Amino acid sequence: MNKAVSAISAIAGTAILCLGASAGTPTITSKPFGNLPDGRATTLYTLTNSDGMQVSITNFGGIVTSIKTPDRKGNLGDVVLGYDRVDNYAKGLGGTYFGALIGRYANRIARGKFTLDGKTYHLAINNPPNTLHGGKIGFDKKLWTAKEINDRNSVGLDLTYFSKDGEENFPGNLNVHVIYTLTNNGSLKIDYSAVTDKDTVINLTNHSYFNLNGAGNGTILGQKLIIFSDAITPIDATSIPTGGLESVTGTPFDFRSPTEIGKRIDQNDPQLKNGHGYDHNFVLRPHGNSLALAAIAYSPETGRVLSEYTTQPGVQLYTGNFLDGTITGKYGRKYPKHAAFCLETQHFPDSPNRPSFPTTELKPGEVYSEHTVYRFTTR
Ligand code: GLA
Repeated sequence: MNKAVSAISAIAGTAILCLGASAGTPTITSKPFGNLPDGRATTLYTLTNSDGMQVSITNFGGIVTSIKTPDRKGNLGDVVLGYDRVDNYAKGLGGTYFGALIGRYANRIARGKFTLDGKTYHLAINNPPNTLHGGKIGFDKKLWTAKEINDRNSVGLDLTYFSKDGEENFPGNLNVHVIYTLTNNGSLKIDYSAVTDKDTVINLTNHSYFNLNGAGNGTILGQKLIIFSDAITPIDATSIPTGGLESVTGTPFDFRSPTEIGKRIDQNDPQLKNGHGYDHNFVLRPHGNSLALAAIAYSPETGRVLSEYTTQPGVQLYTGNFLDGTITGKYGRKYPKHAAFCLETQHFPDSPNRPSFPTTELKPGEVYSEHTVYRFTTR
């Protein structure tokens, strides 16, 4: 945003909308992003909105590789962790899932097993003793079919993936469709939909790692967070929900008023121990199928604000507990422990084994439909 525009927007919040629209035409460009180990070529798409905010996404894993948004002085900075080459994503070093689309089932399924319509399905145990993020080769490691969308007011990328019946041992041919849209008001929208030809389970999310001070600029421990949640689904030592809900009142999980992420992260709390920090599903207040504000993160240093809206019933707060400084990402930067936070909107972990949780079953004739918005502003 240029200075004149921000000055006016400070005076009249609405002026920004019309000025913003005339500031520049949203564009989408593409370039090669390197080849996968098996030789297949990948593409990197860059969406730019009328204010110059930029989001790059590759058709490999539907990975958001960069989000460049202004700080309070108007300087653009890249606020998500990632790599500048596809082969680093393909290697999946450290099991980070940087920026990726996660499926067929985000987060864990206990002991890689669930029963549907009387039949028990066995999945890969890729996070012993459980299945994590879809199994051995989840949607994050698939090449998606991409189509550019450019309708003047917003730009987007339309991604589709066909997951065959039996892939990673999940039942049903699943047609998955994810649309990323960058709007002129600084929102990155993610619209997920899917249909199946056999009863199955599904839980899709995006695994972006945010650092509102810029990717690779230290930790997020001083950044503030609100999560509109009164309870978590507590976990055992293998990060599987124990079944009930636990109130956040009086615990380090109470983010109902703005609190520094690092303020209580080292407290002697059994749940923090089980997660090695925050790695928990927060239960959002009932909001039906409508988009509701789930969380707001804020960097006092840069003034960047991230507001997250979702139709999903939960959000996984993960604070990069398994990063240890050994990974070198974009711009040659190293990522230490707590270099980022993730706010993965989702259905609850292990729902296929927990009839009391909102269902993750999808039947033929039904349409799975979820939406998440990451909105960037400054303060
Ligand atoms: C999720 C999981 C974490 C971890 C990260 C990726 O947040 O809950 O335990 O696997 O993904 O490293």
